[in-house]
Amino acid sequence: MMALRELLAVAGQPEVLRYWEQLSDDERRLLAAELEPLEPRELRAHCEEAARARARHTAPRDRLMEPLPGEAIGSSIRTEAEILRRWKERGFHEISQNQVAVLLLAGGQGTRLGVPYPKGMYDVGLPSGKTLYQIQAERIRKVQQLAEERVGRQCTVPWYIMTSEFTLEPTQKFFTQHNYFGLVKSNVVMFEQRMLPAVDFNGKIILEQKGRIAMAPDGNGGLYRALTNNKILEDMDRRRIRFVHVYCVDNILVKMADPVFIGFCVEKGADCGAKVVEKAYPTEPVGVVCRVDGIYQVVEYSEVSQETVEQRNTDGRLTFNAGNICNHFFTVEFLKSVTEEFEPQLKPHVAVKKIPHIDEKGNIVKPETPNGIKMEKFVFDVFQFSKFQEAEEPPAVCEISPLVSCEGEGLEEYLKDREFHSPLLLTEKTVAALG
Ligand code: UD1
Repeated sequence: MMALRELLAVAGQPEVLRYWEQLSDDERRLLAAELEPLEPRELRAHCEEAARARARHTAPRDRLMEPLPGEAIGSSIRTEAEILRRWKERGFHEISQNQVAVLLLAGGQGTRLGVPYPKGMYDVGLPSGKTLYQIQAERIRKVQQLAEERVGRQCTVPWYIMTSEFTLEPTQKFFTQHNYFGLVKSNVVMFEQRMLPAVDFNGKIILEQKGRIAMAPDGNGGLYRALTNNKILEDMDRRRIRFVHVYCVDNILVKMADPVFIGFCVEKGADCGAKVVEKAYPTEPVGVVCRVDGIYQVVEYSEVSQETVEQRNTDGRLTFNAGNICNHFFTVEFLKSVTEEFEPQLKPHVAVKKIPHIDEKGNIVKPETPNGIKMEKFVFDVFQFSKFQEAEEPPAVCEISPLVSCEGEGLEEYLKDREFHSPLLLTEKTVAALG
């Protein structure tokens, strides 16, 4: 109890214990269990930052947005069949070397779907009655089998599943009941993300019951903390995984360990990637992958003006058309750099919500207008740390005097088997010196 009081005093939240005397032993234990994993100074910073961030006016980012540069995109519909085949084979090669894992983000509360159980357990209405989890598990089995046929030995694509307090237990039970849908149990690794308290507009923790804090998962960008807390990258190292396909739970079409996507990213030498689908219409409620002030990002649909979403190129296509479908590629090396170095720099996003709470008399109130703030990190906010940005630096500079070559003629003779450094100025004089 003392420890709890102290924790809350340091966090600036002593009021959380205002009904302590009225709580049963069980309720007290549960409340303590919610709070104890939180570091008090971090909790204080979280609550203060939530109130500040809500009050802050964030300037619209439209003016700084640019579409993705052509060289950073690979299109599966506009690329020649031969190149697509090469990407696919490259992907299968990595899979058959047991170097690829899939990672499901399944810690969300799924409130919009309106079911009281994890989204993956949803029966999506197929004739077979299969749930999302079953479809995904079977796709892993198939991709493993296709890789095995290529190399003639056993291939494994481990499945990491990030859950939260809301989803871990039912998900574990569901997998056990269904015998892991035919997958090897030890290759399905479930782990839990952190929960953080929701706060009111003054930065005070909201109690949803006398002994219960309104907690919410810390967003799908909570992945990076969860990877550290659960030693998941160590597990990946033990299995010699190098590439990870991260995806969200509610995608019935998801291609698990998508060989084309993996192969494309590996060939490009990318440390992270996003699979996108061309937006169907301007107001489609998806984030778009683009550059903001030169930095790769996903801008959510709620963050841009109508004018920007409707902007079109001369060919009639939407300028910002790279719709984010929450399918990402990361190298394990990149994930390590994020968890070890960059994670604290990720800025949480503010979601203002209607959060049920108790009033001064201890009655439960369901508010009609937003009353609280949830802070979430987003999985794609790490794109800014990608080294691929550096590859965007102007390529090597080489000026060739027209007096040396008009349209490339004769250059092979001068340049063959020689090494040059940028910037290179090729004049009659330098060519003569080459001999
Ligand atoms: C997400 C994308 C959005 C994209 C859309 C299309 C993010 C932040 N936004 O929006 O750009 O256009 O998909 O499909 O990725 N999750 C957790 N922990 C959490 C919160 C969410 O694991 O704390 C998981 C959910 O279970 C889900 C996924 O992350 O699998 C997506 O989260 P959600 O918050 O539902 O984002 P969307 O609104 O679907």
